[in-house]
Amino acid sequence: MGILNKVHCDNALFFLKRLSDNSIDLVITSPPYFQQRDYGYGGIGNEATEEEYINNLVLIFNECLRVVKPTGAMVFNLGDKYSNGNLLLIPYKFALKVLEEKKVFLINQLTWAKANPTPRQEHRKLIQSTEPFFIFAKAKDYCFKLGEYLSHLDRKNKKMENSSSKIGEKYFEIINQSNLTTEEKENAKRELEKVIIEVKLGKMESFRMKIRGIHKDAYGGMEGGRNNQIRRNGFTIIKITGSAMKKDLIESPVEITKGNKHTAVYPLYIIQELVKLLSNNGDTVLDPFCGSGTTCIAAKNLGRNYVGIEINPEYVLLSQKRIKEADYCEEFFL
Ligand SMILES: C[S@@+](CC[C@H](N)C(=O)[O-])C[C@H]1O[C@@H](n2cnc3c(N)ncnc32)[C@H](O)[C@@H]1O
Repeated sequence: MGILNKVHCDNALFFLKRLSDNSIDLVITSPPYFQQRDYGYGGIGNEATEEEYINNLVLIFNECLRVVKPTGAMVFNLGDKYSNGNLLLIPYKFALKVLEEKKVFLINQLTWAKANPTPRQEHRKLIQSTEPFFIFAKAKDYCFKLGEYLSHLDRKNKKMENSSSKIGEKYFEIINQSNLTTEEKENAKRELEKVIIEVKLGKMESFRMKIRGIHKDAYGGMEGGRNNQIRRNGFTIIKITGSAMKKDLIESPVEITKGNKHTAVYPLYIIQELVKLLSNNGDTVLDPFCGSGTTCIAAKNLGRNYVGIEINPEYVLLSQKRIKEADYCEEFFL
């Protein structure tokens, strides 16, 4: 395809109409928010009514859906807006509208928690510091590589757990000091030795042990079974796989990139994580509202192809410059 690894100066709707069905692996984008800014060149965002805006957005969404492969996903990040003191819930109205048509399903609403929201504190409102990233899939066998997502947090966990060569040794002392019966103590030590070996063999990352009379009861749900084990055997062992919990919340500062004249840049860190989660090496990632090229940079950094579409020629030049100078974004976590 001659369109790969380029940012094209065009109206997204017209450009998308020229693409073949099922030719793109992943779409990640952030359309202009409703009546927020005028990016010029007759782009979307400044329609007179919400309905008009959402309809225009849905037209582009439906084209994205057509060009995405059955294994693909479409990620749409949208911000909200107040009108007469009332939050309009535009992102959710858009999501409901595309779901109504029943051609996609919503895998997740990933919430971006802004570590540094605009500190504009109104007296009778809280500061808005989150935005949704809707992750839609075209079919059930969508590409989803959970192990790749936030994998730097897994590596950090591993490092922390393996840093102690005496892993689990403290529990022998605790068992000895506990008021378990002699038989329970022997049993507990035998099981403890087994899990220590499993950790040393790398079969699991780590474990925790809870001992009757020493540790607090576990709480609720699945943990109910653990409390029974503690009561019955005097102890329980909680195995830890070492993977960080992959939640529908991601924290990242608002991108402040020196020399980037675009006013609405989303965080490269989040986009890179989404590219890792939802695509494979060599896949093609498309952004119909390319702006300063963040999606393209993430794709390039991770060995994917990219297709950017941007209506404003100044931003096309800006994105081309940023893509050329791109570097992998250092991991971000607090
Ligand atoms: C919110 S910005 C995207 C910013 C981008 N995510 C980044 O990190 O730089 C939306 C962009 O969509 C562009 N745009 C608006 N309507 C468009 C259309 N119909 N076709 C293509 N681009 C459009 C605007 O010029 C603007 O640069």
